[in-house]
Amino acid sequence: MNIPEILIQKLRAARHVLAFTGAGISAESGLATYRDPQTGLWSKFLPQELATPEAFQRRPDMIWAWYASRRQAVERAEPNPGHRALVALENRVPRLTLVTQNVDGLHQRAGNRRVIELHGNLTRTRCSEGAHRVETWPATEEVPPRCPVCGARLRPDVVWFGETLPLDAWEAAVAATQDCDVCMAIGTSAVVRPAALLPELAQKSGALLVEINPEPTPLSTHSDVTLAGKAGEVLPAVVRVAWPA
Ligand code: OAD
Repeated sequence: MNIPEILIQKLRAARHVLAFTGAGISAESGLATYRDPQTGLWSKFLPQELATPEAFQRRPDMIWAWYASRRQAVERAEPNPGHRALVALENRVPRLTLVTQNVDGLHQRAGNRRVIELHGNLTRTRCSEGAHRVETWPATEEVPPRCPVCGARLRPDVVWFGETLPLDAWEAAVAATQDCDVCMAIGTSAVVRPAALLPELAQKSGALLVEINPEPTPLSTHSDVTLAGKAGEVLPAVVRVAWPA
């Protein structure tokens, strides 16, 4: 893999790097992406039937069970070399802001210290009425179980289509776009807004925009550097070339 010199120089000199990740970085951990043909979740299921508040109203039991099976897959998965390269990057640059659309928690398990989750985390549970997170609830046959505080149904702590992003996470992500020297968009189809706007915001604020993805996306035409390959191969190579042992 040829890593362009401009990227190496910019990374070595960077004060602040923004890494913006999507489902593609977890593909090599065995977790399905959303939009890859054949294997993506949304090539098999309709998002409006599984990932909207209306779907939860209609079939809370089915939605709970679907997220429970995804949670099991996530618990069985391990961080891969792509995740670990972002830990190495965090140790190398003065400041790394890691913004993820992923709900699998693998960046945290790999060891990144501060991860901004735009779409929540499916290993957490919250009340469907209040926004409060819930850690434990009494054993019950009911699916989904009820909130121990208010009795409403429990739901996964993820953002569904039609819902707003957590404001603090969004504001922190936008602030990072305005301050970073390099923005790396990794393993995302860059079609789900508002998250998909972040790389362009960073580029408009003067950052070098780097895309890492085996397939072209809407970002590819205007990225400054395109590294067409798998995150688990490209990211370790970038770190190795920028900071040889
Ligand atoms: P997508 O499934 O839309 O895109 C995954 C991207 O990863 C594609 O562009 C693939 O080409 C790329 N990819 C696949 N394998 C890869 C690898 N080994 N290395 C690098 N890239 C690889 O996933 P997201 O962009 O994350 O929303 O999707 C955005 C949002 O849509 C998700 O957060 C989710 C979904 O609906 C919510 O859950 C709210």
